[in-house]
Amino acid sequence: MSDTHIHRTKPEWKENALIDAQTYEAWYQESVENPDAFWGQHGQRIDWFKPFTKVKNTSFDGNVSIKWFEDGELNVSYNCLDRHLEKRGDQVAILWEGDNPAEDRKITYRELHAEVCKLANVLKSRGVKKGDRVTIYMPMIPEAVAAMLACTRIGAVHSVVFGGFSPDSLAGRIIDCKSDFIITADQGLRGGRAVPLKENADKAIAIAEKAGAKVKNVLVVKRTGGEISWADGRDLWYHDEMAGASAECEPERMNAEDPLFILYTSGSTGSPKGVLHTTGGYLVFASMTHQYVFDYHDGDIYWCTADVGWVTGHSYIVYGPLANGATSLVFEGVPNYPDSSRFWQIIDKHQVNIFYTAPTAIRALMGAGDEYVTKSSRKSLRLLGSVGEPINPEAWEWYYRVVGEERCAIVDTWWQTETGGILITPLPGAIDLKPGSATKPFFGVKPQLVDGEGSVIEGAGSGNLCIIDSWPGQMRTVYGDHDRFVQTYFSTYKGKYFTGDGCRRDEDGYYWITGRVDDVLNVSGHRMGTAEVESALVSHPKVSEAAVVGYPHDVKGQGIYCYVTLMAGEAPSEELKKELVAHVRKEIGPIAAPDKIQFAPGLPKTRSGKIMRRILRKIAEDNYTALGDTSTLADPAVVNDLVENRQNRR
Ligand code: PRX
Repeated sequence: MSDTHIHRTKPEWKENALIDAQTYEAWYQESVENPDAFWGQHGQRIDWFKPFTKVKNTSFDGNVSIKWFEDGELNVSYNCLDRHLEKRGDQVAILWEGDNPAEDRKITYRELHAEVCKLANVLKSRGVKKGDRVTIYMPMIPEAVAAMLACTRIGAVHSVVFGGFSPDSLAGRIIDCKSDFIITADQGLRGGRAVPLKENADKAIAIAEKAGAKVKNVLVVKRTGGEISWADGRDLWYHDEMAGASAECEPERMNAEDPLFILYTSGSTGSPKGVLHTTGGYLVFASMTHQYVFDYHDGDIYWCTADVGWVTGHSYIVYGPLANGATSLVFEGVPNYPDSSRFWQIIDKHQVNIFYTAPTAIRALMGAGDEYVTKSSRKSLRLLGSVGEPINPEAWEWYYRVVGEERCAIVDTWWQTETGGILITPLPGAIDLKPGSATKPFFGVKPQLVDGEGSVIEGAGSGNLCIIDSWPGQMRTVYGDHDRFVQTYFSTYKGKYFTGDGCRRDEDGYYWITGRVDDVLNVSGHRMGTAEVESALVSHPKVSEAAVVGYPHDVKGQGIYCYVTLMAGEAPSEELKKELVAHVRKEIGPIAAPDKIQFAPGLPKTRSGKIMRRILRKIAEDNYTALGDTSTLADPAVVNDLVENRQNRR
């Protein structure tokens, strides 16, 4: 990259910054050379009931074992609430903005503390104990945050499931972690439309119970007052239960390595994995990255637009900000309702200083036209963030120039559900920016690029991104399946954590994430396994075989392209395409809706029967000249047919 693409750190970004360039270098060196000393010191940023005496005890070899601060004891809700009461009890903790612009709520630390203690007592009174799994299937309302914190207060392990997932997906997650307590709402509200959460939960429970699961209780927040059905004895109204609950609840003493939460995420094969994060290391890492990456200062109004159903919501709406005593804005709605100026209106209304969103939203709003942005002031903004997928330089420059008026640094933060927190990112007062690059590793993070054979690439070059030593926020295992954890992340390159991402390092040592190198799609920043979409398609009675690949999409980053072979005797039709799209939405959820379906009489396979996705990807990308060698195919003529009938060329 030439210098012209560099945005040098501006004097005003440096002025008040927590970390300058020299500090970054010095801390980084220490963090990788002497992790025990470094993390031993930074582990003190949170409050421990019993201080740790050991810091790091990790191995990426053999059976893989990851322990941080292993003899320390703490409680996450205590760190996010109680310890702030004396100094900032009356400060707003959750600044809630409803889907409807006329609705908002301000909840102070004292109020949130009381709500969480009451809810923790409700859970206890209904038999939820330390170590039990609680499923949270909620809209973006303050009660969702309270539900997460209430679990942590009593040591229950939450599994938050995004409200856009279908009953089937929800059922799978309930079954996998054997969760018998669900917290939901009657309905959610997004873009003026009701989302039938309770109805979906009812369906999910029916599916799960058929498979042998037993759900004891469903705690229901009344959000819209819409029609719902009710199972007496099982279903409980949140407001009824809370009415009689005490606002005092001793926080459970948790070991640093006790499970904190499970969050399901898609991989290249099989059903979604339950990523398990534990208590101490996760909280240290989430709070530390939140403070330094967003250069968070006391009193800042901070807004992350993610949903609590994703890891970004866990680490950077709830745990990181609240552990730091921040004011965290929680938004119920969508970027284009009532119109495309909503984000900027909210920024002005609440005087937001730090704004963290996804490239897909930036691209969509860029497409809507500058006037939606420029009619707002945005003078309060100081820092912008991006997460979830590679940000293309055009979108980066628009975000920088139009949204931030060249006044705000942009932090392009690379990380994953598995990493618990941000691993590669600029620090705004310390690291010069290059549009499209996540820049440099955070403290304690040792990235390495390796080629297909596992040889290490030194200096400038491209390869597969591995991380070669542990950091405190790392996932500890796949819930209930440690072998799968070892297989998925540590077997491709022995002794290294393999991220699944491709990456380039330039001559300045900057990292440029190029996207997934496995069969995982990133659709509007949502992770999606091609295998999951394929199995949803073949569960349709008219489908005999399906192969799914990604293709470049202007707004979503990647779109979902499906090649479908029908059962003998079934005729292709536009109706059937619609039926299949609806079927996938029903099976997985609207976020997995295919963008394109191409009926294919045959799929390109090797003689041993393996589908050649490389070829399918090229055809989906309209890149016919680069189809490569097709002579190893069992039936090379299949490819001609696919090219001939490519979906949007007809
Ligand atoms: O491919 C990378 C992409 O998102 C994947 C992780 O997805 P998920 O676990 O759902 O977490 C998303 C939010 C942390 C990564 O493997 N990704 C995430 N952030 C970036 C990114 N790709 C490029 N640049 C980023 N800043």
